[in-house]
Amino acid sequence: MIGTKDRTIDTQTYGRGLEGLRFGETTVGRIDGRAGRLWYRGYPLEQLCEQSNFEEVAYLVMHGELPNRAEWDAWDRELRAWRTPPRDALAVLQWLPTDAHPLMQYRTMLSVAACMMPDLENTRLDAQWQRPARILAWTAALAAAAIRHLKGQPPLPPKEHLGFAANFLWQALGREASEEECRAFEVSLIVQAEHGLHAAALGALLVISTGADLGGAVLAGMGALSGKLHGGANQDAFEMFHALSLGGPGRAQGFSEKADRVQNDGTAAGVESRNPTSGASRANQARQEGAPGLSEKVDTTAVLDHARAWTRRKLEEGFRFPGFGHRVYKTHDPRARALEPLAERMLRATGHGVLWEVYGAVKHEVEAKLGPRGIFANVDAVTGLVYHPLGLPTASFPIPFALAIQTGWMAHCLEYIPSGRMIEPGSVYLG
Ligand code: ACO
Repeated sequence: MIGTKDRTIDTQTYGRGLEGLRFGETTVGRIDGRAGRLWYRGYPLEQLCEQSNFEEVAYLVMHGELPNRAEWDAWDRELRAWRTPPRDALAVLQWLPTDAHPLMQYRTMLSVAACMMPDLENTRLDAQWQRPARILAWTAALAAAAIRHLKGQPPLPPKEHLGFAANFLWQALGREASEEECRAFEVSLIVQAEHGLHAAALGALLVISTGADLGGAVLAGMGALSGKLHGGANQDAFEMFHALSLGGPGRAQGFSEKADRVQNDGTAAGVESRNPTSGASRANQARQEGAPGLSEKVDTTAVLDHARAWTRRKLEEGFRFPGFGHRVYKTHDPRARALEPLAERMLRATGHGVLWEVYGAVKHEVEAKLGPRGIFANVDAVTGLVYHPLGLPTASFPIPFALAIQTGWMAHCLEYIPSGRMIEPGSVYLG
C-alpha cells in the first residue's frame, strides 16, 4: 500500500515570469531600465544610431569590439557572399498559404535553410562561429521573400552594390529606397539588434545550452518573439494607430471597431488569435498597402479628439495598449526615442502626418495615466510608423524585428557555449 504524503518538502519561492532572476553574466548588452539607457558592448545606443551601420553593429554585438579595416572587409565580404539563400528554402514558400502570417513563413524557410548549413551536426564553438554571417545574410533574403509572397510576388535577386539595409528594402519592396528611407530602416535595425536576456533571447539560449546548433537556437527565438506581448506587438500597435487615424466623426463607428479588434484581456492566456487581419483579407490588405499618402483628406482635429476620447475610454476599461509597457523599462524606451524623429519625418514626408499626430495623442493619454506606474511607449509603438511610410505591409512588421534581434540572440548563444551548462530550472511543487 502507498504511504502518506510527505508534508516535510521544503517551501520554495519563485518570481512570476522569472522577473528579477539573474541568469548569468554577459558582456553583450546592458539595459538601465530606470534611466532608459541601452548599451551594446559598452557603446551607447544613441552613438551607434548616429555613427554606425547595421553590419558594423552586428559585428560589434557578436565579436565584442568594432571591426578594424581588415575585419570589416572580411565581414562585409562574408555577408555579401551569402545573400542568396538555398533554393529549397525559397521554394518552400510555394507550399505555404499566402495568408499564413509572414513571420511563420519566414521561420519555416529558415528551418529549411538551417538544414543546409555545412557541418550541421558539429556544434563545437568554432563550427558555430561559422554560422552568424550566413544566418544574417540568408534570413534577410528569406524575410524579403516572405514579404513579397504576402503580395503574391516572387522573390527578387540581391543587388551587389547595396548595403544590408538597402538591399533588404530592395528585395522586399521591389524598388531601390531613397537614402533617407534606407537610413531610417537601418536605424530601426540598429535599435533592435540586441536587448539583453528578453524572452526570445532566453528561448535561444535554452536551445543552445542543450548542445543544439545555432540555427535551431535562432528558430526558438523567433517562436518566442512572434507573440503579441513581445515582437508581435508592433503590428498590433500600428493597427491601433492606423485605425484611429482613418476617420473623422462620420466614420467613428467603423474605425473604433477596427481599433477595438486589437484589444485583449490583458493576460498571455487570454490573448486573441495572432492577427486580427487574417486569412485572405491579409493578403488583400497587403496588396493595397504601400501606396504613400492617405487616400482621402481627414479632419485632423476630429480624428485627434476621437483618438483621445477612445484612449481615455480604453484606459478606464483596463485595456492593455500594444506598444506600451516593458518588463525592464519603467521610463522612456531609448529605442523608441531614437526612432521617433525618423518616424515623424517619414510620415510627414509621405502625407501620413495624421498618423504621427494620433501616435502623439494616444501616447500622451496613456503616459499621463500609466506613466506613474512605469508604463511608457516602447519600441514596438514606433517601428510601424517607420515601416508603413516605406511601403512595408502591416502584417510584415514583426519580420524586420526578428531579422535584427537575432544578432543579439546569436551573440548571447556564442557567449554562453563555453560555459557549457544545460539550462534546466525547476518549478515549485505543490503536491
Ligand atoms: N497597457 C495597459 N496596462 C499595462 C500595459 C499596457 N501596455 N502593460 C502593462 N500594463 C499593466 C498590466 O495590466 C498590469 O496591471 P495590474 O497590475 O493592474 O494587473 C501591470 O501593468 C503589470 O503588467 P505585467 O503584464 O505583469 O507587466 P510586465 O512587466 O510583464 O509587462 C509587457 C511587460 C508584457 C510588455 C506588457 O507591458 C505588455 O503587455 N505590453 C503590451 C504589449 C507590448 O507592447 N509588448 C512589446 C514589449 S517590447 C518587446 O517585447 C520588444
